Amino acid sequence: MIIKYFSDDTISEKHRRDVDFINETCLSNDSVDPDIDMYDWEAPEDGKFLLFDNDRVVGRVAVHKTMSEYNGESYCLGGFGGLAVLPEYRSNGYGRKLAELALSKAGDLGVDVACMCVNMESGITEFYKRLGFVFLNRPAYFVNWADKEKTDDTVMIMGINNPALAEKILNTEDIFAYGKNKGHW
Ligand SMILES: CC(C)(COP(=O)(O)OP(=O)(O)OC[C@H]1O[C@@H](n2cnc3c(N)ncnc32)[C@H](O)[C@@H]1OP(=O)(O)O)[C@@H](O)C(=O)NCCC(=O)NCCS
Repeated sequence: MIIKYFSDDTISEKHRRDVDFINETCLSNDSVDPDIDMYDWEAPEDGKFLLFDNDRVVGRVAVHKTMSEYNGESYCLGGFGGLAVLPEYRSNGYGRKLAELALSKAGDLGVDVACMCVNMESGITEFYKRLGFVFLNRPAYFVNWADKEKTDDTVMIMGINNPALAEKILNTEDIFAYGKNKGHW
C-alpha cells in the first residue's frame, strides 16, 4: 500500500475512474439536503492524496484551500474533505494517515485555519476531535452549486498556521463563511 499526492491534472483516466467508484461507494449518501450535491464537496481543491493497492486507488482525500474573511480579516481557509477508504480496506489506519497527510499539506500550502463539515451519521466525530477539530456551534455559510447561499451546522474548526484566529472564530460570534467560491467540504 502506498499513498501519493496528485494535483488534479496529473491523475490518469484509470485512477480517475477508481476515485469516482470510491465517491459513489463511500460518499454519495453524504448529502441529506436536496440543494446540496457532490459538487459542494468538490471545490475548490488543491489536489488529492490517493491510497493505492498496487495500481488500484482504494482511498482518497482532497486538500482544500480558498481565501476567506473573518470580521474583516483576510485569511486562508482550507483543510481536507471527501475522506474515504473502500470498506474492505478500513480499520487499518489508512483513513487517519490520509487525514494527517492532508492537514500537513494544507499547512505547507499556507492554510491558516482548517474547517470541515461532518457526516453526523458516520459515527466518526470522535476521530476528528482527536485530530484537533472542535465544533463551531453555529452555522457556517457557503455558496452552493446553484449559487445559493446555504448554511451547514455540522462544521468543525482547527488552527493550522494561525491557531489564534481559529480560537477567535470559535469564541466570537461573527459570521463564519467558506468564502466567495462555490462549494464547501
Ligand atoms: C472514515 C473512513 C475514511 C475511515 O477509514 P479507516 O481506514 O477505517 O480509518 P482508520 O483505520 O484510520 O480509523 C480512523 C478512526 O476512525 C475510527 N473508525 C473507523 N471506522 C469507524 C466507524 N465505522 N465508526 C466509528 N469510528 C470508526 C477508528 O476507531 C479510528 O479512530 P482512532 O484512530 O482515533 O482510534 C472510512 O470509514 C470511510 O470511508 N467511511 C465512509 C466515508 C465517510 O464517512 N467519510 C467521512 C465523511 S465526514
